[in-house]
Amino acid sequence: MPLADKENNHPVQKKKINNDSEDFVEQIKRRKREGIEIPLTENVQGKKNSTYLEYVKLFHNALPELDYDEIDLSTRFLDKSFSAPLIIDSMTGGTDEAFLINKRLGKIAEKYGFGMGLGSQRAGLKSEKLIESYSIARKVAPNAFLIANIGGAQLSDGLSTADIIKIIKMIDADALAIHLNPLQELIQPEGEPRFKGILQRISNLVHDIDIPIIVKEVGSGISADVALRLEKSGVRSINVAGSGGTSWAGIEKIRADQHNEYIKSQLGELFWDWGIPTALSILLVSRSVKIPIIASGGLRNGLEIAKCMILGSNLCAMAFPFLKRAAQSEEELEKFTRLILSEIRSTMFLLGTKDIESLKNTRYILIDKLASVLGNYECRRNKN
Ligand SMILES: Cc1cc2nc3c(=O)[nH]c(=O)nc-3n(C[C@H](O)[C@H](O)[C@H](O)COP(=O)(O)O)c2cc1C
Repeated sequence: MPLADKENNHPVQKKKINNDSEDFVEQIKRRKREGIEIPLTENVQGKKNSTYLEYVKLFHNALPELDYDEIDLSTRFLDKSFSAPLIIDSMTGGTDEAFLINKRLGKIAEKYGFGMGLGSQRAGLKSEKLIESYSIARKVAPNAFLIANIGGAQLSDGLSTADIIKIIKMIDADALAIHLNPLQELIQPEGEPRFKGILQRISNLVHDIDIPIIVKEVGSGISADVALRLEKSGVRSINVAGSGGTSWAGIEKIRADQHNEYIKSQLGELFWDWGIPTALSILLVSRSVKIPIIASGGLRNGLEIAKCMILGSNLCAMAFPFLKRAAQSEEELEKFTRLILSEIRSTMFLLGTKDIESLKNTRYILIDKLASVLGNYECRRNKN
């Protein structure tokens, strides 16, 4: 489909489908399906960028003075206990495939005491038939910390508080995540790159609902300035979702190609690696705000998770690695989960840290690009 306002070369699609129509529900279902299929079949990870976690160096401890078996991964976040500092990050819902994936992910979250985010629940608001693809997570995970999810663009578009309460009830959520995804909305063929009034809307919502609000990015990171404004608005936690992992510009670029949207495709290529690398985002945010932060964006093993905790995160989240295994089988998902836990535990053993609190107090050094970029940033901040 050509761009509606092709003539002035503006990337924003003006043609709108009536939001309540069957067409719209079908469109959301198709988009959700593609949103799972593309990352599973094409390489949509960062190309030339990275998380910068390779520039965080830890010191080996040859005198750990502890037994591997006594290492305790449990922690607390927003007044809830977690058996490990892990969240299965917000991903999906709204299709048959999503039902199965959320069922498998929910079972793992319940069994291992992790948190789990659901994908954007707008589809569940538009059609009763799609609710089960989300609520299955609560059915199989009665005790897990489940996080409802909605887009910031939908909030600024006027989504009502009553609708937000519906999506919270849909999964009996412990927290609500609002995702900020300006880059994705820009490249997405059906995108709605309209975020005017979003901060005020978030701040109103903080007073209107009785569960904590977490604000997250989807792979472009959060800056110190944005974190401060979010904290001031009453948000209870920030998930930095930095760059270096799954690229939503990449996913939407592929979809734009399929829709023959030339400009969006070119924009997707140009901004494929756009964003603040995860390690840098964690450092900037954790040094600026007091609210707990969640690290995510490109975390692929337990050593990286331990590094994020040391840099100042309170929990860590992974999306694509869990999706990949959940799409394979329950066995693969379980195998992966056990590997990640043993990688975190092994890192803690080699650092001589018995629990998450002592892990968080471990010394580290920043080298190379991360050291210089942070050094430049600190110098400029001191000058201002
Ligand atoms: C298939 C897929 C679907 C996603 N859908 C959502 C979503 O609906 N809402 C959201 O907040 N984030 C969504 N995300 C973003 C993730 O929560 C996460 O922030 C991002 O993928 C970076 O993590 P990763 O590099 O571990 O994949 C999605 C990610 C993937 C891979």
